[in-house]
Amino acid sequence: MSEAPNSDQTRATLRAITEADAEGYRACLDRVAAERRYLAFTAAPPLQEVKFYIKAMLQRGLPFIVAVDGSGLVVGWCNIHVLPQTEHRVGFSHVGTVGMGLDAPHRGKGLGREMLQSVFDTAGRVGIERVELQVYASNESAVKLYRRFGFVTEGIKSRARKIDGQYDDIIMMARLRPPSRG
Ligand SMILES: CC(C)(COP(=O)(O)OP(=O)(O)OC[C@H]1O[C@@H](n2cnc3c(N)ncnc32)[C@H](O)[C@@H]1OP(=O)(O)O)[C@@H](O)C(=O)NCCC(=O)NCCS
Repeated sequence: MSEAPNSDQTRATLRAITEADAEGYRACLDRVAAERRYLAFTAAPPLQEVKFYIKAMLQRGLPFIVAVDGSGLVVGWCNIHVLPQTEHRVGFSHVGTVGMGLDAPHRGKGLGREMLQSVFDTAGRVGIERVELQVYASNESAVKLYRRFGFVTEGIKSRARKIDGQYDDIIMMARLRPPSRG
């Protein structure tokens, strides 16, 4: 597992992401991806792509936070992405997808719960009513966290991933907020 350089393991704090976090966020994403267990990719995208993504999320006011350790290092993130509405793609602006991760030393300390609470507080304000996610069945702590948060299982893709000789099921989950007339 790739470790964050000189990571301060005291409890991290949460704040909104800024464009200046692009490298730190990308490095954290890369470390979690490199574990080859939890995410759909095994390395972070190129920095330019990450910068573009953060800028677009900020411009659209979508929820995006980072967890930062005592030395200022980004050790986690949580966001809810909504696909942009276009002329020919309408009817989905109330649907978001959550993504999150923490560096290994910062897991199991309640930060995941805190991060989800934070992005959901913002989600309601920007009209997100349905939040979806996909999680590997082997990722027990994540599944437990999502269930506790009101996510329900909508389907299971059996043996949907095969990596390093191991199969994993993908659980599709969603959480709905009461419908609005908007
Ligand atoms: C998933 C993740 C974000 C959860 O954050 P976290 O800070 O570790 O979770 P929390 O400490 O808030 O704990 C949430 C729940 O999971 C449980 N939990 C935490 N670590 C656990 C573990 N290793 N095994 C089983 N349950 C665990 C906690 O007990 C808690 O349940 P509780 O509310 O009943 O006490 C984090 O573990 C992580 O980054 N994992 C790797 C990346 C990843 O899986 N991303 C999500 C992909 S879908």
